[in-house]
Amino acid sequence: MNLKLSPIKAVRSLIKILQGKPKVPPSLADNALLQVILNRRSVRSFTAQPIPDDVFSAILEAGRLTPSTVNLQSWSFAVFDAPLWQEVFGRPIPFRGSRAVVVIADTCRDRLVLDAFPKSPLVEYSIAVMNASLAAMNMNIAAEALGVSSVMLSETGRSGLLDARYLKERLGLPQGTVPLMTLVLGYARGAYPPMPPRLPAEQLFFRGQYTPPDREIMEDWLAQMVAGYKASHLDSSFEQQLRIYQGKIGQAEADLREMVFGEAENPPTAGN
Ligand SMILES: Cc1cc2nc3c(=O)[nH]c(=O)nc-3n(C[C@H](O)[C@H](O)[C@H](O)COP(=O)(O)O)c2cc1C
Repeated sequence: MNLKLSPIKAVRSLIKILQGKPKVPPSLADNALLQVILNRRSVRSFTAQPIPDDVFSAILEAGRLTPSTVNLQSWSFAVFDAPLWQEVFGRPIPFRGSRAVVVIADTCRDRLVLDAFPKSPLVEYSIAVMNASLAAMNMNIAAEALGVSSVMLSETGRSGLLDARYLKERLGLPQGTVPLMTLVLGYARGAYPPMPPRLPAEQLFFRGQYTPPDREIMEDWLAQMVAGYKASHLDSSFEQQLRIYQGKIGQAEADLREMVFGEAENPPTAGN
């Protein structure tokens, strides 16, 4: 994995990022919902303007009404304004957002009434992760439609999956729950950043038979990620960010095994 770019490669990569635009058939370009979805960006700089209660309630309602497997609604949401976040975590909401929602995969509630199902921690966990992640996205899009910007965090600010044990302790979460991410919400300061590099459609969509990954396309994507990160984080680098992940992933893996399977290092095998 080569994370060192020549200056020419870095400039070329930045140009490609700036040229990246959503591809919409002209006949649909005016569709308001499509515009909200395609022009959404993760925003990491917010003004001090608070989000009014009615706007925040509408965003939460979009989470509550999200579709889910067998309508299980296997999620919980820890909701925060800035003072409550400060009280619980002893620091401001990441990026000084106005509100935050910790999105939690939650298998506790359905267990109360569906205990006839065989114990299947991996299936239950996967279903809850699927459902809760969709709820996060529904809230994200609802926010965007209401002029509120957001970013989902699973690492930054000890706010998601990579700090699941810490969040469980802080929020008093029981066995059967896994905090996945925090949706940080606020009004964007300034224009949206350019779109981070997306993989080309021909790598992602296939008809009939799977399209194997193409190394050249992936190396080009990685070069854009490295160059884009450098351009937007003058005091850091993609390499440094990867090192932070490397440092946390081992512990997070062990913690999650314990949360999902109930014991460290020994997930159940077939027939258990
Ligand atoms: C589940 C999830 C977790 C994320 N975690 C972080 C995070 O910890 N820190 C961060 O700065 N961005 C985080 N992001 C934002 C991604 O970096 C961002 O979505 C991606 O670069 C694409 O950019 P865009 O959202 O502007 O299209 C996360 C996004 C998702 C969906």
